[in-house]
Amino acid sequence: MPAENQSSHAPVDPASDAPRPYGGAAAPGDAGTGDPTAPQKPPRTPARIRTVHLRRFKEEGRRFAMLTAYDAQIASIFDEAGVEVLLVGDSASNVMMGRSTTLPITVEEMLVFSRSVVNGAERALVVADVPFGSYEASAQQAVETGVRFMKEAEVHAVKVEGDASMAGHVRAMVSAGIPVMAHVGFTPQSEHALGGYRVQGRGDAAARVLADARAMQEAGAFCVLMEMVPSDVAAEVEAALDVPTIGIGAGPATTGQVLVWQDMLGMTPGRLPRFVKRYADLRSTVSAAAAAYAEDVRSGAFPAEEHGF
Ligand code: KIV
Repeated sequence: MPAENQSSHAPVDPASDAPRPYGGAAAPGDAGTGDPTAPQKPPRTPARIRTVHLRRFKEEGRRFAMLTAYDAQIASIFDEAGVEVLLVGDSASNVMMGRSTTLPITVEEMLVFSRSVVNGAERALVVADVPFGSYEASAQQAVETGVRFMKEAEVHAVKVEGDASMAGHVRAMVSAGIPVMAHVGFTPQSEHALGGYRVQGRGDAAARVLADARAMQEAGAFCVLMEMVPSDVAAEVEAALDVPTIGIGAGPATTGQVLVWQDMLGMTPGRLPRFVKRYADLRSTVSAAAAAYAEDVRSGAFPAEEHGF
């Protein structure tokens, strides 16, 4: 777990601190000596990924990754792996707390998950979802909730679900100094209102996704996340906006992509949405290890001599 690291919190001058992919090659436009035998300058990396860097990724045609995280250990693993953005999603309600929707999770519960992720991440930008019922009533409520996340959990930004009708709330939050990632398209907090998990923006509804995204950008959102939107519609939105977009079930054109880590690493049982790619089968690994441990305990094979004092 990273200890308090002053340098990771030091201000980064965006002009002198061009973001580079972790361990990656220099970005387009880097001068170089022209001498292929000369020692290569190591890529410069920012001490902390900030919203300004995501904007620059888009301008430079580079992509970035976001994964959900809910605790300090996983946050530190993803941070070390070079994932640029960690999302403390209200999907914690499902994957951490075993509920069937995101709706019941509270601000207090989200603050615990958020604080934990901040404690584990040295370099990633940490964004927290403001949960259902904590921001919709008024711009003032949205500002008050956003301030709690920035002050009590010390996240770097919050994510707000909603269509253009939430733009005023987002504007007020941004004016109060709260960086906002907007979430349009399918918004899980509205799953009952939307009639379940459904792709948004098909046919004539495409214009609405674009209008929502534009409204959020105009309100000051630094990034727009699109969930379950047809790939061609997401591509149109990415092209129309100056700010970067992030997709989940929105095709390949967005600047960033996000997945829920338990889906991506094979912890989630059962059928997964088609937009998920599974990169590991941790459920089988953990299950086999737990069964082996239990068997060792039952047989007396654990603890052995070397495990005692
Ligand atoms: O809560 C969450 O994890 C999310 C992602 C699915 C984008 O909002």
